[in-house]
Amino acid sequence: MIRRKGNLIKMDTPHTSLVLKAEGDGAELLYYGKTVRFGPDFSLLSGEDKRLLFSSYGSVDFRESGLVVLLSDGSAATRFSFVRVRRMEKPSALPLPASYGEADTVCLEFADEYAKLRLYLYYSVFSDCDAIAVNVQLTNAGKKPVRIRKISSLQLDLIGEGYSLVTFDGSWGAERTRHETPVNGTLVCNESRTGSSSPFHNPFVMLERKGEVYGFNLVYSGNHRETAEGNNRRQLRFLSGIGGLFEWTLEAGETFTAPEAVMTFGENRDEVTSSMQTFAAEHIVRGRWQKRVRPVLVNNWEGTYFAFDRERILTIAKASAEAGAELFVLDDGWFGHRDDDTSSLGDWTDYAEKTGGLASLADEIRALGLKFGIWMEPEMISEDSELYAKHPEFAMRPMRREPARMRNQLMLNLADKQVQNYVVRAVSNIIASTKAAYVKWDYNRHITDPYGKGVAAGEYAHRYILGLYAVLQRLTEKFPLVLFESCASGGGRFDPGMLAFMPQTWTSDNTDARERLTIQEGTAYAYPTISMGAHVSASPNYQSGNRTPLETRFNVACGGVLGYEMDISRLDDREKEIVKAQIAYYKKYRELFQFGRYYRLEEKDGTGGFVFVSADQTKAIAVVTAKEKVTGQANARYRLKGLNPQYDYIVKPREQSNYASCEEFTAAGDMLMQGGVPTDLFCDTENDTNSVYARMLFLRRAPARR
Ligand code: DGJ
Repeated sequence: MIRRKGNLIKMDTPHTSLVLKAEGDGAELLYYGKTVRFGPDFSLLSGEDKRLLFSSYGSVDFRESGLVVLLSDGSAATRFSFVRVRRMEKPSALPLPASYGEADTVCLEFADEYAKLRLYLYYSVFSDCDAIAVNVQLTNAGKKPVRIRKISSLQLDLIGEGYSLVTFDGSWGAERTRHETPVNGTLVCNESRTGSSSPFHNPFVMLERKGEVYGFNLVYSGNHRETAEGNNRRQLRFLSGIGGLFEWTLEAGETFTAPEAVMTFGENRDEVTSSMQTFAAEHIVRGRWQKRVRPVLVNNWEGTYFAFDRERILTIAKASAEAGAELFVLDDGWFGHRDDDTSSLGDWTDYAEKTGGLASLADEIRALGLKFGIWMEPEMISEDSELYAKHPEFAMRPMRREPARMRNQLMLNLADKQVQNYVVRAVSNIIASTKAAYVKWDYNRHITDPYGKGVAAGEYAHRYILGLYAVLQRLTEKFPLVLFESCASGGGRFDPGMLAFMPQTWTSDNTDARERLTIQEGTAYAYPTISMGAHVSASPNYQSGNRTPLETRFNVACGGVLGYEMDISRLDDREKEIVKAQIAYYKKYRELFQFGRYYRLEEKDGTGGFVFVSADQTKAIAVVTAKEKVTGQANARYRLKGLNPQYDYIVKPREQSNYASCEEFTAAGDMLMQGGVPTDLFCDTENDTNSVYARMLFLRRAPARR
């Protein structure tokens, strides 16, 4: 809800309030936090130093500014005054993905008359998730071009001490590991310069101190930069927006739209997670798959890598169908003459010697009762390819300089319309000819030689992302029934921008259960678990070498959308039976796994697990986990979350071959949440040298006692 009183604007979600003051020389943030009444005197909140909604370069405020524009007269200072505020519809048809759905929107307009610039800040209030989305546009109303050096999507000025910036960082195979950095007298920065949102620093961050947690994310898949700058006047400035090399020429009459930012406030991390997950699930993910249960898939990548033929694929597919899987995904290696990662990207034609005919292979897989899905890496080009021989100019590289190669490949210049058309055609042909129900859209390198003919270097990275979004828009409109899963060497592009087109993202190439707990927990801080691909793979694990019981691998993979990534035809009969039982169990409770409300059971890193609770709180599934040996768990207890304290629950540990069987028991909801479950439930009988434990508990409401 948005209300105005004089020059005050108050935005409320059920649990938060944002209060602004907009007048002559600008706009001031008076309050953002837990709900407050529209009380008599907000001016008390106006401090010695104003908290700004945006800061432009060249003023007496020498902290990092959110807006830096180089003017045609050679100067770089801009000063905006407030023009007006309007209630309006949330802007649609933006060149970038943005949130949608029921929201109240207000637009604040500012002008710099000297520079002939107009700045528009749109705040959209989403009540169902206590989130506020912010859109920023800058219009050049003058007659000469200006150059935008920086345009932040969000600025939040806070007053206070003792905040930490919580970031989710990592690298390939170790994405979104949580770190906390105190913000004291300097600038703390979280930035991606890879051209993508990157595995190194996710755009989701939090600012927190006791009882106060702010969450921020950016609906963008390119370079991003989040900074928190503190000083000894108790000021803290948070900025989020495009990062990396950026300089954009805004011609006379043009408008630049910054990526959408979203912010939430909670009294603890769980509240921020709930808001961020709901925001993404309800207002970012869209289309046919948004509310549909997701299929259990089997992917052949870790089972075969490039070494497969038709027979091998059909053998795996047959075993997958027998186990109860629903979708078979043919991964890398089916096109051009690709037998390793040195060739063929860009040649999206059947490698018939290997597949024995791709279209008929897809038909045969369907005849087994499975849907057919396919892997592609459409943004890339191999120099050893027909495409490169014909169109070397499609590659992103300055032609006379030796380019940097990653995984032996180059990228396509998606900033170019002709290249965009090529990608749309190539992907469309494969979907149409194989009748694919699912596409895994991979992206296995970063931008190193940003170059496109006629594109200024400072504009390249953003123009690439605009090109990518244009392609994704066309393809998702053309194939609305297809389930797209985005991937970037695992979870290198897990961000709301990609989720706006693809409802799932492959969380990480690291499928080791122990390490996955950390990666999945970090990811689920901001992203719905139904958007996280999570697969059971072979043991010992190919990435870590760890041995983990099949049941443990399954329990951990149930923290996302379940799949199997192995040659399940090579499992022994006992293991095949276990997999069959797992898939049946997962399908039985799939609504709860995929749409239940997620809670993190965080005791220590990886020790705790997660719970999914049904909307009416009558059912829950908990996976309680530990990364230490049972002896290291002495007297540890798992306090569950999200249950109804008034209900009693029958708790039934799922029968697992690696645990001694355990009787079901009845316990009160409040006791389970406050007292907790003892770790005695951990008695892994199959492998006592293992370094990760995970036990699944099913809870259902017990009949009320009389
Ligand atoms: C990286 C992905 O993350 C893997 O799952 C697999 O698809 C490979 N690429 C294939 O090259």
